[in-house]
Amino acid sequence: MRSVIDVMDLSVGELDELIETATDIINHPDDYADVCHRKKLATLFFEPSTRTRMSFEAAMYELGGNVISMSEASSSSAAKGESVADTVKTVSNYVDIIAMRHPKEGAALVAANNATVPVINAGDGGHCHPTQTLADLLTIHREKGRFDNLTIGFCGDLKFGRTVHSLCSAMARYPGSRFVLISPEELKLPSYVKKNVLKSQNIPYTQTTDLEGSLQELDILYMTRIQRERFFSEEEYVRLKDSYILTAEKMKNAPEQMIVMHPLPRVNEISVAVDDDPRACYFKQVLNGKYMRMALIMKLLKEAGRI
Ligand code: NCD
Repeated sequence: MRSVIDVMDLSVGELDELIETATDIINHPDDYADVCHRKKLATLFFEPSTRTRMSFEAAMYELGGNVISMSEASSSSAAKGESVADTVKTVSNYVDIIAMRHPKEGAALVAANNATVPVINAGDGGHCHPTQTLADLLTIHREKGRFDNLTIGFCGDLKFGRTVHSLCSAMARYPGSRFVLISPEELKLPSYVKKNVLKSQNIPYTQTTDLEGSLQELDILYMTRIQRERFFSEEEYVRLKDSYILTAEKMKNAPEQMIVMHPLPRVNEISVAVDDDPRACYFKQVLNGKYMRMALIMKLLKEAGRI
């Protein structure tokens, strides 16, 4: 049973296919309106979410399917101590496909190993978030027109930011990618990502604490939120939370072609004044996420012989 736990579960060719399908959905939405007629998606969210859960649900509805949802761990049997394995074994009886978010790294893999329907990882702790990467890739494709020879600056919480880990792995597969890793000392990209993704493939990268001084060299600036829920101490969070704030003033010194991305939610790290800048793409990412999730749901249901 094919599940998607990590973005590396999808080949570059498959990513191209998903982008092609998403683009066709954008141009011909009516052609897809009944593709998932009478099929059901379960969204199992053991952690807060707005965009990811609702875009999965909107995606399934726009494919003509139905959704059953668990949006709070506290209202499910997880609160009684049920394991993820038992929960997905149960839910597999009700639906054709599952999207799951969980605070523990590796929970999505446990789910995939126990479900009898495809599982899509909608975020597992500070590990990875492959469908946000799909949203990001469609955005890069539409805004920059290519994936090769791009310099991407990741800024903020690179330690706990799962969207960063996934996008970094995905972009490292394209020729000419370069990374500028901008973070406080305490929130640097984990060494396992540097070792497995960057060093092993000789991908050029620099690490810095300086956002303003890095802007000039970037094609893409990927801002992130400091992941409060993953900190051990509130004090440490408070000390680091406003490390980087992208303002309209700073954008004056950024290249004209540099796009600004952010998986959202934003807290303080991009001032609202930047939203009107034509280079700001974070709300476009939101919509692109829905199309890519439609494409992925269809792909996995087809492969499972369910549509
Ligand atoms: C991200 C996440 O959940 O990792 N949000 C999202 O899915 N768009 C980013 C974040 O919470 O900071």
